[in-house]
Amino acid sequence: MKMKWKSGAAVLMMASMLLTAACGGNATTGGAKDTAAKGGDTPKPADKKIVLGFAQVGAESGWRTANTKSIQDSAKEAGIELKFSDAQQKQENQIKAIRSYIAQKVDVIAFSPVVESGWDTVLKEAKDANIPVVLTDRAVDSKDTSLYRTFLGSDFVEEGRNAGKWLLEKVKDQKGPVNIVELQGTTGSAPAIDRKKGFEEVIKDNANLKIVKSQTGDFTRAKGKEVMEAFIKSAKAENTKMDVLYAHNDDMALGAIQALEEAGMKPGKDILIISMDGTKDAFQAMKDGKINVIIECNPLMGPQVMQIVKDIVAGKEVPKRILTKEGVFPQETAAKELPNRQY
Ligand code: AHR
Repeated sequence: MKMKWKSGAAVLMMASMLLTAACGGNATTGGAKDTAAKGGDTPKPADKKIVLGFAQVGAESGWRTANTKSIQDSAKEAGIELKFSDAQQKQENQIKAIRSYIAQKVDVIAFSPVVESGWDTVLKEAKDANIPVVLTDRAVDSKDTSLYRTFLGSDFVEEGRNAGKWLLEKVKDQKGPVNIVELQGTTGSAPAIDRKKGFEEVIKDNANLKIVKSQTGDFTRAKGKEVMEAFIKSAKAENTKMDVLYAHNDDMALGAIQALEEAGMKPGKDILIISMDGTKDAFQAMKDGKINVIIECNPLMGPQVMQIVKDIVAGKEVPKRILTKEGVFPQETAAKELPNRQY
């Protein structure tokens, strides 16, 4: 009798599961393929390769090049078929790429959004097509967090805070004004917004620390140099001193160093330089005394991305936010750390 009840209940449960799958899943998973990814439907056959569509920001920096390589190498190693596109720092190109991945019915879409805003429509299209989305490196500002499955990347606000904390300690005995010039990352991008926010939050109660000039250098070496040249020119014209350069990435810092040297200044001595990322080139410059501190941002997230993709396809739950680990490297650590840098 008991047995009969049990098998009746099992049939009912099966029927309800099938119905859920047929109706396209629930609000958090977003549909049939998503339901499958959570284990509520037939999982992908083991002999079929997982297909991942990855829409990259571009090739604007050493960090990005390392990130792309990490994604490509890890996909190969994990046996995942990778469809890769480079958006050349343009949101419309990334949207096009995501739409093409939807049309090709890939298993998972991952992307590193060039800017924070304006993703809801295309993410809704992916959700309606039941394709899970993974955000890597940069966040979107969508209110509807069901539009993506997880976000793997750094805490950019914390990176900004770490830069601010280092500076406060460095200039704590300096009585007069500390004039800071800032090279921001790509306008509207998560790292540019958050690194500025974290830095300002930490220095705001120190009246002598002031950001006197701030402009985007678009995360590139060429633009970093160009903007720094303009800063130098106007500082000369206004007869003001620049005490600190806060650069949102290594490439802009390295471009700025070139501009400073061409103007006869000694980077790292005449002006303190705070940089972010931790590329080999920047560590070399720090070893040479031209950068004073590097706040690390880790691009080597490929293995983690592939694991997340596999977990999603296998129907496992993945945490909504996964943070990457990173450190703070002052100049005195440069010589020891340089040989360990992988990017
Ligand atoms: O989103 C990460 C940032 O983007 C890195 O700091 C920068 O170098 C890159 O271009």
